[in-house]
Amino acid sequence: MLENDRIWITGAEGQLGHTLYKTLEDAARDILTTDKDVDVTDLDGIMQYADINRPDVIINCAAMTDVRTCEDEPIQAYKVNALGARNLSIASRKIGAKIIQISTDDVFGGMSQKTYTEFDTPEPVTVYGKSKLAGEGFVRELNPRHLVIRSSWIYGQSGSNFVFWVLEMARKGESFLVPNDQVGSPTSAVELAKFIVRLLSTREYGVFHAACEGVCSRFYFAKEILRLAGMENVPIDAAVSKKTSQFFPYPSYTVLENMMMYMTEVYQMPRWEEAIREFMETLRRDTVRKEGVYEKE
Ligand SMILES: NC(=O)c1ccc[n+]([C@@H]2O[C@H](COP(=O)([O-])OP(=O)(O)OC[C@H]3O[C@@H](n4cnc5c(N)ncnc54)[C@H](OP(=O)(O)O)[C@@H]3O)[C@@H](O)[C@H]2O)c1
Repeated sequence: MLENDRIWITGAEGQLGHTLYKTLEDAARDILTTDKDVDVTDLDGIMQYADINRPDVIINCAAMTDVRTCEDEPIQAYKVNALGARNLSIASRKIGAKIIQISTDDVFGGMSQKTYTEFDTPEPVTVYGKSKLAGEGFVRELNPRHLVIRSSWIYGQSGSNFVFWVLEMARKGESFLVPNDQVGSPTSAVELAKFIVRLLSTREYGVFHAACEGVCSRFYFAKEILRLAGMENVPIDAAVSKKTSQFFPYPSYTVLENMMMYMTEVYQMPRWEEAIREFMETLRRDTVRKEGVYEKE
């Protein structure tokens, strides 16, 4: 049972790892968190850590996630995203642990207007997507007790993400460009973490898609973020990706269908609109709380 399990979260200082820790804190007694202090690319270090700490479940949130950096540094991208997953799979198998590998919609090419289920064949077009797919492959080959969870457009309370980028650009008060030819499902790290916690208390294995329900373009998502932040008057312009260098080379249509979730009936993700509303409300409450503290000091 979950409450008796020792869970090791790698990449625990990242958006999802941190949120997962916060979510699991209430449900599980025993959580280990590591980030670059236990480098996933170092097989000996990973084996040693696993051997000493003996987790029942390893959740691999460690990754090189910046798509552009992956294009510029492909060896490092494969090292972290593929070899890292391999090393954790070897270690988890040796100690009899389950492995949960977090993966991405970018394993699909995104060149058509079709949603992708777990039964579609991945065809990544970016180094990031290819290296993440290689990581999935290692996990599947090396530890039969695996779950691969693919999500998309994740935003959490910590780290850098699209939501914070939009708010930062808006605060500068100048108009900015956002692509309207990239379509996906924005997914709150909190909602994804809730699903992972739910999965931990089941006997499910295999590949699961886990994105918030509904789809939108990045442009529409940015408009919604600004509306919820009370900044709807900030001018933003819809553009094609080629003109918005910071978003190139993202695949254009990577919408995940949570088919395994429907079939197994283990969970239902909320709609992306509800999740971003909840996220913005939490941000607002945190800001008010912090400002209250500052006033007292
Ligand atoms: N962000 C998204 O939109 C998105 C969408 C779909 C799927 N995913 C997947 O979801 C997972 C979590 O993503 P995220 O957004 O939480 O990523 P993130 O915020 O970038 O977190 C990844 C963490 O892993 C750390 N890390 C990097 N190299 C490492 C290494 N060699 N050893 C140990 N730790 C290392 C990073 O440290 P540094 O920050 O110092 O590099 C960071 O703290 C990843 O598997 C990602 O591929 C993300």
